[in-house]
Amino acid sequence: MRIVTSVATMQRLAMEWNRRSVPVGLVPTMGCLHEGHVSLVRKARERVGNRGVVVVSIYVNPTQFGPTEDFANYPRDLPRDKKLCRSAGVDVVLVPGDQQMYPAPHGANFSTYVIEEKLSRSMEGVSRPAHFRGVATAVAKLFNIVRPDVAVFGAKDFQQAAIVNRMARDLNFPVKIIIAPTVREADGLALSSRNKYLSADERAQAVALWQAIQQARQTVRTSTQPVPASRLSSELKWLIETRPAARVDYIEFFDPDTLQPHAKVQPGARIALAVFVGKTRLIDNARI
Ligand code: PAJ
Repeated sequence: MRIVTSVATMQRLAMEWNRRSVPVGLVPTMGCLHEGHVSLVRKARERVGNRGVVVVSIYVNPTQFGPTEDFANYPRDLPRDKKLCRSAGVDVVLVPGDQQMYPAPHGANFSTYVIEEKLSRSMEGVSRPAHFRGVATAVAKLFNIVRPDVAVFGAKDFQQAAIVNRMARDLNFPVKIIIAPTVREADGLALSSRNKYLSADERAQAVALWQAIQQARQTVRTSTQPVPASRLSSELKWLIETRPAARVDYIEFFDPDTLQPHAKVQPGARIALAVFVGKTRLIDNARI
């Protein structure tokens, strides 16, 4: 397994693979890797085969964090991440660092951003205004640096995956975007690097997100008519907030292709929610 820290080196490698028609799979991450990330690596390997190469990028991208968010505290553990990548059969770990991605001082030599203007307008885009601009910009840069044939994203961040997919199509990146299912703990909590922030007590309460998803499924699937979204979300908010540390940021029901909100919910719709558990903001989503 090779560790690459320079963008120029990575681009030379990519050009060489391209010349030899070696299929390239990319899994972009912010590190602090867990089984969810590993499942994306497996998906990438499946796609590129043993002849192909799998690249995992690890970069905590500052432009996707808001000014009051957890950029400085975001969990980082590169030695452990490298071990995990090695055992998952990754070929190259790209760890570019700020100086490579946004030349300093503080990105003063950087002024071009990618903005997706439709799918970013709801949910995470409302709660975290510049978030998807940062994500799309970082991912576009990674696509130009690694030149992947396939890039794998998790359904855990459903809106992000939809925006990246749209961006790749709109800007003609020659990459196939693959969306892999959410990996969960035994009690249903979606794996996330941010789960590290939770105290034992908060961790127990965090199961509220998954319970709300299941409750929504049950209500919608057993109803003979479409269920008003406003009624359903108030019920779920109430259910979640019976846990003392939990506070709902949003609950939304939407069309999985357009991300347009539904006023009435039927099977096939998707639910997404963001909940603060203590100071930690957790997100989850699922098909109803
Ligand atoms: P990060 O949060 O590290 O996630 C990297 C990838 O892992 C994303 O595609 C995310 O959806 C996926 N993922 C996270 N938890 C998962 C789970 N429990 N099951 C399946 N997949 C999961 O998302 C980012 O980083 C960044 O925004 C990034 C795309 C790297 C751009 O900076």
